[in-house]
Amino acid sequence: MTKAPVIELSEAEARKELAQLAMQIAYHDARYYQDDAPEVSDAEYDALRLRNAEIEERFPELRRKDSPSNRVGAAPSSGFAKVQHARPMLSLANAFDGDDVHDFVARARRFLGLEAETEVALVAEPKIDGLSASLRYENGIFRVGATRGDGAEGEDITRNLRTLDEIPERIEGAPDVLEVRGEVYMSRDDFFALNQRQEANDAKVFANPRNAAAGSLRQLNADITAERPLKFFAYSWGEVSEPFADSQWGALERFAAWGFTTNPLSRVCRSVNEALAFHGEVLEQRADLPYDIDGIVYKVDRLDWQDRLGMVSRAPRWAIAHKFPAEQAVTVLEDIVIQVGRTGALTPVAHLAPVTVGGVVVSRATLHNEDEIARLGVKVGDHVVVQRAGDVIPQVVEVLVEHRKDAAALRDFEVLDRCPVCGSRAVREEGEAVRRCTGGLICPAQSVERMKHFVSREAFDIEGLGAKHIVSFIEDKLIATPGDIFRLREKRDDLLSREGWGEQSADNVLQAIEDRKSISLDRFIYALGIRQIGQATARLLARQYGSLEAWRTAMTAAAVERAENSEEMKKPELVGEIYSELCNVDQIGISVADDLVSFFAEAQNQEVLNDLALTLDVENFEVADTSGSPVAGKTVVFTGTLETMTRSEAKARAEALGAKVAGSVSKKTDYVVAGPGAGSKAKKAEELDVPILSEEDWNDLVGAAV
Ligand code: IVH
Repeated sequence: MTKAPVIELSEAEARKELAQLAMQIAYHDARYYQDDAPEVSDAEYDALRLRNAEIEERFPELRRKDSPSNRVGAAPSSGFAKVQHARPMLSLANAFDGDDVHDFVARARRFLGLEAETEVALVAEPKIDGLSASLRYENGIFRVGATRGDGAEGEDITRNLRTLDEIPERIEGAPDVLEVRGEVYMSRDDFFALNQRQEANDAKVFANPRNAAAGSLRQLNADITAERPLKFFAYSWGEVSEPFADSQWGALERFAAWGFTTNPLSRVCRSVNEALAFHGEVLEQRADLPYDIDGIVYKVDRLDWQDRLGMVSRAPRWAIAHKFPAEQAVTVLEDIVIQVGRTGALTPVAHLAPVTVGGVVVSRATLHNEDEIARLGVKVGDHVVVQRAGDVIPQVVEVLVEHRKDAAALRDFEVLDRCPVCGSRAVREEGEAVRRCTGGLICPAQSVERMKHFVSREAFDIEGLGAKHIVSFIEDKLIATPGDIFRLREKRDDLLSREGWGEQSADNVLQAIEDRKSISLDRFIYALGIRQIGQATARLLARQYGSLEAWRTAMTAAAVERAENSEEMKKPELVGEIYSELCNVDQIGISVADDLVSFFAEAQNQEVLNDLALTLDVENFEVADTSGSPVAGKTVVFTGTLETMTRSEAKARAEALGAKVAGSVSKKTDYVVAGPGAGSKAKKAEELDVPILSEEDWNDLVGAAV
């Protein structure tokens, strides 16, 4: 079909054609990026894009929000096979100043029970702003390369990684199984050059080197990756069949000998002060380095100590990232808009005149809460300093009062006593910094946010069903509750009639939903979006209660106990046995327990849970590899002074063996391990007939398993 020359199109015709083009191009993008099976030649596809661009050029006002010109070569959202990491890919805790680093080393010392004068050498490495990847070598041959993903499961990007010069295909003299981990990144020069080429080709321009590296690596077509100048620094490892070094530094040396690039700035520091001096030095050079870094990572050098230190909440205890100070810029605050969050928190959001901060355009920033607005003394119309640090949300940190000229151009922020979305009362409870909408699930904003959280990556992680889809499905009443997602299949026709959806994409999403009907208990708990229940706490609860049924029963009972004894604020044991057990789960405490029971006290939430329990198969929590452990599933309390290990080490080891560690003794306690100086807890154990072990007995008991 020949089309009329663009110059002859009427406005109505142009509008119609732009809509068609948006749909066609989205369709072909999905075939190309998601299915890896294009249905048209590159030339035909380019012609569609060119036509779209020409029409937009003649009618700029008709350019659509979803215009294909906005998302050329977008990163594919799916299409890679999943890879289970043999050992999890961890993230790092952050330190923001020297004190945090001193604390980090002091904690490690305490954990290891070291004398003050024992040297704790650290390896300091620049923190590269790229993407981590894991490279599995078997008998010296590169077999599988994967992204980090959620840490437990990543995507198979072997073909893409093979295109990097700095990733050797074969290595000599390595353990039979060796997973080398490190950062894939793009140098700044290469990034600028790539963007120039992209611009010349009317293709997507990347916001920063990191995005460019990500977009280049996650291409289904590895030929595209091959054209992108990606690099790799090796700094860590996953599964290995035999030890290959006894220090972090030694490991870096082995990597280099095998032909990997390690970062030339890395060095061993013999004290915290030496490490901080290094941080300062690198910070000075930061702008002159050929690649972006956002801080320094310190790692305990001795690997036997790394092993003992282990990890907590998916980050190692033996490493920390000391961030560089944030980048700042000045702009005008155009408005303050209240956003309603998942738990009803009202957050004032600054709408800003767009400004580039550290290479990224920022037009929104958080103002945290009304006290923060008062503290800053900020008014709409003010010049403000915005700050962006790494991947955190930009924030307004300062008002430039000297820029105020015309008082009439300024407006004070007014605190709302009603939710701007549903009109319910917005209250700020005593001692709380945030104001909250009291509308619960009747507030559309809250339910949308909860649903977004429900499908988010760390929760149900349904491939192809992102936050944007959730919002538009709710708007169009395709879904209203989490359970509705699993009934979407019945609405396949509605889905197909929507713009941008074809048979293939609809069926892919429906299949992805089907696949997620089976989910682990900890993910499920996290997905509910209960206040204060993040991933780590969700895991604690899953471990403690084991099954959905057991957890629900306990939480519901605790909610009843709490309602009946609401005046016993500070004494959980007076509220009731089940509530007290909940408070006693390590790291939970009264505040978190109260948020949990309030969730269960709401009839609406119970309905959502009933619905999900009927639809889903929530797997019981499996404690990893502790089948042979004599203490798996046992509840242990440590008390008194321990001599062969520190308290945290004892706790970490017990947990690794599948035991639960509690803070106080009850009928449910299986063992109390008492060292010298044990007091009331040992006494209580005697009263309750709970076996009391010496540290030696305990070590004998678990000895075989350690
Ligand atoms: S060590 C347990 N070393 O930072 C090992 N990470 O915030 C964890 N990163 O996901 C990583 N440079 O992508 C390590 N020299 C370095 C690093 C580094 C950059 C990234 C990495 C990781 C993230 C954690």
